[in-house]
Amino acid sequence: MKKIILTGDRPTGHLHLGHYVGSLRERVELQNSNTFDEIYIEIADAQALTDNADNPEKVRKNVLQVALDYLSVGIDPSRACIFIQSAIPAIAELTVYYLNLVTVARLERNPTVKAEIQQKHFEASIPAGFMCYPVSQAADITAFMATTVPVGEDQEPMLEQTREIVRKFNDIYGETLVEPSIYLTTNKAGLRLPGIDGKAKMSKSLGNGIYLCDTPEDVEKKIMSMYTDPTHLRRDDPGHLEGNTVFTYLDAFCRPEYFPEFLPEYANLDELKAHYTKGGLGDVKVKRFLNKVMQAELEPIRARRHEWDQHLDDVMDILKDGTAKANAKANETLHSVKKAMRINYFEDGNLLK
Ligand code: TRP
Repeated sequence: MKKIILTGDRPTGHLHLGHYVGSLRERVELQNSNTFDEIYIEIADAQALTDNADNPEKVRKNVLQVALDYLSVGIDPSRACIFIQSAIPAIAELTVYYLNLVTVARLERNPTVKAEIQQKHFEASIPAGFMCYPVSQAADITAFMATTVPVGEDQEPMLEQTREIVRKFNDIYGETLVEPSIYLTTNKAGLRLPGIDGKAKMSKSLGNGIYLCDTPEDVEKKIMSMYTDPTHLRRDDPGHLEGNTVFTYLDAFCRPEYFPEFLPEYANLDELKAHYTKGGLGDVKVKRFLNKVMQAELEPIRARRHEWDQHLDDVMDILKDGTAKANAKANETLHSVKKAMRINYFEDGNLLK
């Protein structure tokens, strides 16, 4: 069986460091490992519209920005196919058939959707399209016969629901679709990167994010204002690492070579942590180090973004070619699905007799 990746993001804003450690960095590694036969990356504008129907400009304006985020982290359009969801009609068609394989009660139990409904204050006026987006996401994934879906852990309920739909479909209509698995980052700190306020996960709505396209000055300002350990008042007080955002970020981003380069008086992160815990190491010093680490990590990303920014016509071509390729693949799947369901009437004249 072919090894196929499908993943994607909603274009509702710029991508941030949470997206980067949670999934983007992993996707680039998987791409460069050359162990996958096909890679598809979807800009999920139709899904973004399920809770932005009244604000399509927001979604439209972010399509190109997300494409630039992908290219700037190192997604290589010659190896990965980047495409726009709404331009793939087969996904919408598959969604219609899959909706019949899912109960309303099952949709209401999806924990990620439940949390989003609360967070977005939908109360009694949940858009039906929003309630059903996990089904459309199952169509995204299965349209490409994906085996592997690299995403953040909040997407596990979507994968679970996709596998249920696949099993049900294959059960009723015969072996047609492939059950996908989630691919999570192996970096523990990256699983749930907190925002700079240390409170919740980094998110646009909470305004606690550091974005891949932030200027070096913005990144520095945000890092210097980061939440640390509220009991670490004086430098000599013993510090705590648990819930200390600066150390969580170091766990997520620091590489061994950054110590000789930026903080040679410590051999490694363990030594730095030990000194902090014992007392005698100030927050400002750790933050300055983290700032150097982050600038080093973000510099190549910024440089690539700057480069692509000068060639936006090429980015448009990448999206156009990617979408054409994605359409060919998704149409193939739709064809097999309709055949399995025996609704390919005009291909097989006997079906109507
Ligand atoms: N739901 C995902 C998110 O909010 C985005 C997405 C849409 C997606 N379709 C997908 C992710 C298919 C993986 C596979 O981030």
